[in-house]
Amino acid sequence: MQTYHYSLPNLTNNLFIGCNKIQLRRVDSTNNYARQLVQDKLPIEGTVVITDKQTEGRGQRQNSWVSEADLNLTCSFILRPVFLAAKDQFILSAVTALAVLNTINPFMDEGKEVKIKWPNDILVNGKKIAGILIENTLRKTNLETSILGIGLNVNQIDFPREINATSLKQLTGNSIQIENILDELSSQLEKNYLMIRNGNYQPLLELMNQRLFGLGGKINLKINGTITEVSISQVLLSGQLELLHADGSTTLHMHHEIDWMLN
Ligand code: BTN
Repeated sequence: MQTYHYSLPNLTNNLFIGCNKIQLRRVDSTNNYARQLVQDKLPIEGTVVITDKQTEGRGQRQNSWVSEADLNLTCSFILRPVFLAAKDQFILSAVTALAVLNTINPFMDEGKEVKIKWPNDILVNGKKIAGILIENTLRKTNLETSILGIGLNVNQIDFPREINATSLKQLTGNSIQIENILDELSSQLEKNYLMIRNGNYQPLLELMNQRLFGLGGKINLKINGTITEVSISQVLLSGQLELLHADGSTTLHMHHEIDWMLN
């Protein structure tokens, strides 16, 4: 695929995240492009790949991520979290989801609640505004590289009904500069990433739990193919979701075991 790229100035006060920006007019997937960069020659940590148009955007569980050209934020940050044990890699979901949440929160007026749908979708009043695709490589027991792929609906106002999505423009009525959102997101990511680099995982996990979609109330989930009424109690550092059942028992689940049945 033919792409061209140009560099954008660094307008943040960040130390490293988002300082080196690679802007592509068009690319298959920013995560794919970032992965190729990592394989060719590891770029400086915090490099972000951003595009106006993704032709084969990827989502979780082999889904695709479709985003109208020029209207939304589609980007991938390249990190080198060699300090992070593979068993704790879920903390990168908390780092990223909370960064997205804090970036969009100032745009929300009363009655609009931003929530994190485990493992890392961002919803406003039950509608998806952002998706996150994190792809890691490991070296022995630790992480070697991590690509944080983020798709955030900014100025798109029409969505296919079946995807139950929203955007900042739909929620606020205003068009918003995508570069400003990227800069704020970079700052939020750096703040959270520096915390985990200092070994400070617990506060982020707690914040994630406070903002968990469906927390406490009764909800029907398809668990390993069976629809069950449960309530969500918490997410653990392992990335598992803890569910409380009607008989008082609790169970732990990985991402692939749960179908939210929201669409
Ligand atoms: C999901 O909700 O399933 C995750 C969606 C992640 C989409 C972003 S857009 C930028 C980056 N490049 C991709 O191909 N995917 C992620």
